[in-house]
Amino acid sequence: MIPDIISIIEKKKLGHALTQEEIAFFADGAAHGTIRDYQIAALLMAIRLNGMNREETVNLTLAMARSGDMVDLSAIPGVPTDKHSTGGVGDTTTLILAPLVAACGVPVAKMSGRGLGHTGGTLDKLESIRGFRIGLSMAEFIAQVQRIGVSVIGQTGNLAPADKELYALRDVTSTVDSLPLIASSIMSKKLASGAQGIVLDVKTGSGAIMHTLRESIDLAQAMVHIGADAGRRMVALVTDMGEPLGSHVGNALEVKEAIDVLSGRVQGPLLTVSLALGSYMLMAGGAAQTPQQGEALLRSALENGSGLAKLRDMIAAQGGDARVCDDVSLLPQAKVRRDVPALAPGYLHRMDTTALGNTAQRIGAGRREKTDIIDYSVGFVLNKRIGDAVQPGDALATVYCKNEEDAAFAIHEIQSAIAIRPEQALPLKLIHAIVEVDRITEC
Ligand code: URA
Ligand code: CA
Repeated sequence: MIPDIISIIEKKKLGHALTQEEIAFFADGAAHGTIRDYQIAALLMAIRLNGMNREETVNLTLAMARSGDMVDLSAIPGVPTDKHSTGGVGDTTTLILAPLVAACGVPVAKMSGRGLGHTGGTLDKLESIRGFRIGLSMAEFIAQVQRIGVSVIGQTGNLAPADKELYALRDVTSTVDSLPLIASSIMSKKLASGAQGIVLDVKTGSGAIMHTLRESIDLAQAMVHIGADAGRRMVALVTDMGEPLGSHVGNALEVKEAIDVLSGRVQGPLLTVSLALGSYMLMAGGAAQTPQQGEALLRSALENGSGLAKLRDMIAAQGGDARVCDDVSLLPQAKVRRDVPALAPGYLHRMDTTALGNTAQRIGAGRREKTDIIDYSVGFVLNKRIGDAVQPGDALATVYCKNEEDAAFAIHEIQSAIAIRPEQALPLKLIHAIVEVDRITEC
């Protein structure tokens, strides 16, 4: 029987599971414009309210992935491995991991995204390097990974068009926050982009798509199941976004921080989380048997400089000015730098990470509208983390802006986003859980 959209909506409205055929009909109809937006929206709301089981979620993901091109990376020797973050602030792990993991022998062929809302995007960061091309053809992309083991580009081809259609409707119908819809949206693009090993970084906390640990673990588990059912090697780490991961927020500033980490000049949470994600990428790629072994390999690539050398190779291969790896002052520099004074004595208790990300966006580090032009030089550097003690007047952060007006705005916003209280506070835990196909390890 040919499925019909009204009966499908009716079925999900009553809380029943949809068949593979019904789900494929819906995803194809969304991709090809043969189902009306209002009917798609009604079904999305029924899914948001009544959920989907594991089999439905897998079927929806596969149908969305197959609605467009499926990238074939089989010409790349080894196990092409990818890392995907659900989105954060000061989350520069890709710029560190892609070269570091490649330096350890696991190919990284990665398609990244632009900044969205309060979160930064790897493509925008890379474009702060003069000349860097994110728009390689598929043939150039594969040839570069064959030659040097790593490439990071923007999405090429027509990946998961059903997701584009559904995401646009979810955005305007209050149906983004549905676990099966988020999991299938993210994983449809990951499956279509061809990686065989996939390490997910699911953020939790004030700057994350999921605010509670429980919801974040559930999302991680749903995505790991989808990938595993589709034959990919999967693991997810649930990591903290209760404050920005690195201290630098803003495009060129984050590139600088990644170079500082790869040069061994900077330690801290960004390095810790990068090593954890990287060790699982090495396991997925077959270069390590245990996370400890993976971490030891990554540390030696840091210490012997091969990770930084790989970043230099990647930048040069994609037309960028690779001298930034040895002289970060060649990155775009902001005109105005001002400190952000603490207004009270005490301990940092909480940061509104979403507000911090929005502040960076508002001063020009991100887009408010699709056509906005980014100022790569602007952003801020945090000097303190949750748990640190401060005195009035201590610099909580330094803002990098194009003018005094933006600096005054950013100073005020950062002061408001950071809660300082008299009683002591503990630093945040960085890694909350490791979610594998057959087990969840809470850390
Ligand atoms: N990112 C995506 O790609 N899709 C979602 O639904 C949420 C975050
Ligand atoms: Ca439409």
